[in-house]
Amino acid sequence: MKVLLTGGSGDLGVLLTRQLTQQGDEVVNLDVAPPHEAVRGEAVHIAASILDRDALKEAVQGVGCVVHIAAWHGIHEHQNTKNAYDFHDLNVTGTFNLFEAAAAAGVRKAVLISSTSTDDRYGLYGHTKVLNEEMARAYAHRHNMDILTLRPRAFIPPWNRTVYQDFTEWANWFWKGAVHAEDVCQATLKAVNFLKADKKPEIPAQILTIDGAYDYTVGELENWTDNSFAARYGAEAEKLAQSFGLDTARKPKVLGSAEAETLIGYRPAYSLKNLLEELEKYGKNGPQFPLAA
Ligand SMILES: NC(=O)c1ccc[n+]([C@@H]2O[C@H](COP(=O)([O-])OP(=O)(O)OC[C@H]3O[C@@H](n4cnc5c(N)ncnc54)[C@H](O)[C@@H]3O)[C@@H](O)[C@H]2O)c1
Repeated sequence: MKVLLTGGSGDLGVLLTRQLTQQGDEVVNLDVAPPHEAVRGEAVHIAASILDRDALKEAVQGVGCVVHIAAWHGIHEHQNTKNAYDFHDLNVTGTFNLFEAAAAAGVRKAVLISSTSTDDRYGLYGHTKVLNEEMARAYAHRHNMDILTLRPRAFIPPWNRTVYQDFTEWANWFWKGAVHAEDVCQATLKAVNFLKADKKPEIPAQILTIDGAYDYTVGELENWTDNSFAARYGAEAEKLAQSFGLDTARKPKVLGSAEAETLIGYRPAYSLKNLLEELEKYGKNGPQFPLAA
């Protein structure tokens, strides 16, 4: 199937491009930035903006499914690098342009990458994602499109050195409860494959929360104490974690991904156990970008 990614040159897009091309899909990446060198040549790159309606009109021709990734996100609000106009233009107008072009061209399948930041309903970023989800519902109803809306937690990957100066910084953030970029890629791939198999969301533009994996049992989380970490992972692991400045008394905030597990078969793989193994193996440099040559 021909799959159009918007923003396919970014952190999620590069992982997804590889997965889609490996399973035989034809990938078109519409992004203002060039594709990541690791997947250069694997997808057709259209150097254009989702604000360019003519470019979108051409890009959606013959497309079976759209995956809409391009957006300013939490980090741009957090670092104050984009203002309200930037957020509205790219996230709201851009998303409208894409849905409209796709609907007009008869594209009937789409995956919208939303965010758990919709919790911050009236925040700069959160509000744009609330509007995106509403738009997705409108296009599902009005144009009979099958749309899955994924709400991942923050997933900037550990190898992104423009955001995390080292693995320890990423680990300190992941520690609180989060999802790994490779799991978000897995969820997106499963959402595309669900639609590709002509399966239907249970409700229009159904929303699926995408969380990471957790090693703790429900009982351990409910009866959390300062010793819960050592009880689960052992004293050696506790020493290791603390040597990297991790707060082992901290209880992770679990959101869960039950609906995504049931509907599309999403099974998150990366948990604190993996993080501890990588800390031990790679130290503060962390693992390399997985698609590096
Ligand atoms: N990264 C996270 O922590 C996180 C968490 C939850 C949801 N999300 C959502 O995931 C998506 C971003 O994922 P990512 O982490 O791969 O981001 P990213 O910033 O790595 O990639 C975004 C891509 O969009 C492209 N882009 C920017 N402006 C564009 C335009 N006008 N037209 C076309 N492309 C444009 C960029 O060049 C970039 O390649 C967004 O929808 C975001 O809201 C991200």
